[in-house]
Amino acid sequence: MKILFCCTGAKADPWVAGLRTEFPAESVEDWASGAPPADYAVVWAPPQKFLNEQPQLKALFNIGAGVDALLKLRLPPEAAVVRLDDAGMSVQMAEYVSHAVIRHFRELDGYEDDIRSGKWSYRKPHLRADFPVGVMGLGVLGERVARTLAQFDFPVNGWSRSPRRVEGVQCFSGESGMADFLAATRILVCLLPLTPETENIMDREALARLRPGAYVINVARGAHLVDDDLIALINSGHIAGATLDVFRTEPLPSEHPFWKHPKINITPHTSARTLREETIAQIAQKIRAVEKGVPIASLAGVVDPKKGY
Ligand code: NAP
Ligand code: GLV
Repeated sequence: MKILFCCTGAKADPWVAGLRTEFPAESVEDWASGAPPADYAVVWAPPQKFLNEQPQLKALFNIGAGVDALLKLRLPPEAAVVRLDDAGMSVQMAEYVSHAVIRHFRELDGYEDDIRSGKWSYRKPHLRADFPVGVMGLGVLGERVARTLAQFDFPVNGWSRSPRRVEGVQCFSGESGMADFLAATRILVCLLPLTPETENIMDREALARLRPGAYVINVARGAHLVDDDLIALINSGHIAGATLDVFRTEPLPSEHPFWKHPKINITPHTSARTLREETIAQIAQKIRAVEKGVPIASLAGVVDPKKGY
């Protein structure tokens, strides 16, 4: 069996070493053009040339949860695409989103400004009932985030493509459920995959449906959000602010207004990082299962190219 590693932006050596530890008797190599055909590939943003040269792949293991960039490439027709199934990401996402929600709800930025200017003063506590959170996407990450926020006693709504049940979460689904979901939500969290249906989903029309004084947290992909619409609605006062971890262009261009907007907090696409050890262990366990005869289609994280996630 042969495994190739081809991840743009990742240091290959520790990944290849980790995979070799899992498969000491097999061939595991960092890809170089002209390499003989492999059975499995571990990838992130691979060049099209790599895919063109690998017609025999049984599976492409993406070392991230989102496969939007990978699905834009011409993939070997027989290869299954397998995305990361949590692998330590959901707890990071729950931490990040809870932090953003609580920072806004408890006005921690305001307190920090006060303290830095030598002011000891109190703000009237908000009521949780006035800050319902809505999580778009109730998959591996969204469900964990929704459950975590419900543990803090926030009213939590969730929205998914197909109907879901999550304890402590009021669930909405499908296009027909979106308007009610938005109208019931004040703090909107985006954890959708980027697909043709979800691109630009947070536009002026959708954001205007949120409760007045809304807050937006985008931790999915930059192209879910129409940047100018968010800024216009913040400037009009309908939206109180935003925490954004993902952007249409990354790194965020230096002239982009998000950098300096006083009501927008940004981070550099870091809300849930790929953790190397967990990721290698998950991929290795799946390769072993396939080699023992388990159908690839039954693995967790297999992408349906028709749905785009
Ligand atoms: P997932 O398990 O595939 O969950 C996707 C969820 O979105 C599902 O609940 C799905 O509905 C819902 N959905 C998809 N299309 C929809 C539509 N048109 N309308 C309504 N709901 C729709 O994905 P995940 O692992 O939670 O990851 C979500 C995304 O987070 C990734 O695709 C990636 O882009 C992003 N991400 C970002 C970071 C970061 O660091 N910022 C890290 C990891 C992942 P069903 O339940 O009905 O299928
Ligand atoms: C990161 O954004 C991922 O998709 O894993």
